[in-house]
Amino acid sequence: MQHFLDIHTTDAGELRDIIDGARHMKTAREGRPRGAADDEQPLAGRMVALIFEKPSTRTRTSFDVGVRQMGGETMVLSGADMQLGHGETIADTARVMSRYVDLIMIRTFDESVLQEMAEYADVPVINGLTDRTHPCQIMADVMTYEEHRGPIRGKKVVWAGDGNNVCSSFLHAAGQFGFDMTFTGPAQLDPEDEFVGLARKAGSTITIERDAFKAVEGADLVVTDTWVSMHDSQSSKERRHNMLRPYQVNAELMKHAKDDALFMHCLPAHREEEVTSPVMDGPHSVVFDEAENRLHAQKAIMRWCLGV
Ligand code: CP
Ligand code: NVA
Repeated sequence: MQHFLDIHTTDAGELRDIIDGARHMKTAREGRPRGAADDEQPLAGRMVALIFEKPSTRTRTSFDVGVRQMGGETMVLSGADMQLGHGETIADTARVMSRYVDLIMIRTFDESVLQEMAEYADVPVINGLTDRTHPCQIMADVMTYEEHRGPIRGKKVVWAGDGNNVCSSFLHAAGQFGFDMTFTGPAQLDPEDEFVGLARKAGSTITIERDAFKAVEGADLVVTDTWVSMHDSQSSKERRHNMLRPYQVNAELMKHAKDDALFMHCLPAHREEEVTSPVMDGPHSVVFDEAENRLHAQKAIMRWCLGV
């Protein structure tokens, strides 16, 4: 069994195998109703716990459906309703849950919760987002890019806006999948130095460019995310919006990217804030393919974790 905690801590060859597996499983069930079982049932007899300490639409639904398609069962738990939110230690929660379920996916705040869960669980633990990273999302994003445009290796990805948890996992993927990244946003919201350093060490060119229009020149992929993440205080909203407004992804900005550039957003999007509707709904956008591929990528991640 193996945990899926982050992209930079997973072997690059295994990440590639996961993407290939996801593509294979997606093709194998083309045209079937969403609720239909896969031909292969690798999770038959397995129980998966999905723990959420933050809201979720995509992660919750895609994991739940994915487990069922592979023959397993799920229980969706809200962190607030568990003893975890009322004083029981994470280590004890991990030990107890390991006696009931075969796999744990957790969305939490501080990444130390995820790490402690993984340390004390006897079953695989999957990172469903922390304040610092969102690896399942970026596995789906790499899969989506490659479905539309072929290998992502050597491509130029531009991240516009807040250097947040999703941006961090993109930097991890840059190092592991061999693409370059340009960050464009205000200096106060730069991505973490540690993750920029890791990507550079792995051979990726990582550029910081304050001018959004210059940044997107030659971009193969433009990505953004909300200006206020779930872990950010609502009182910072106005300040963040003021800082981030020059980095909105709109039709004018997309004109400066390559003609065939793709646009991605992990969703939920705040239309007319970080991205305008003409871009979200326009010819560059693959945001709903990204959302769909969460399902396929996570199915492959769960199989990898369980070795089935
Ligand atoms: N992109 C993503 O993780 O969406 P949810 O917050 O809806 O799960
Ligand atoms: N950066 C966002 C991603 C949501 C999927 C957040 O953490 O709220």
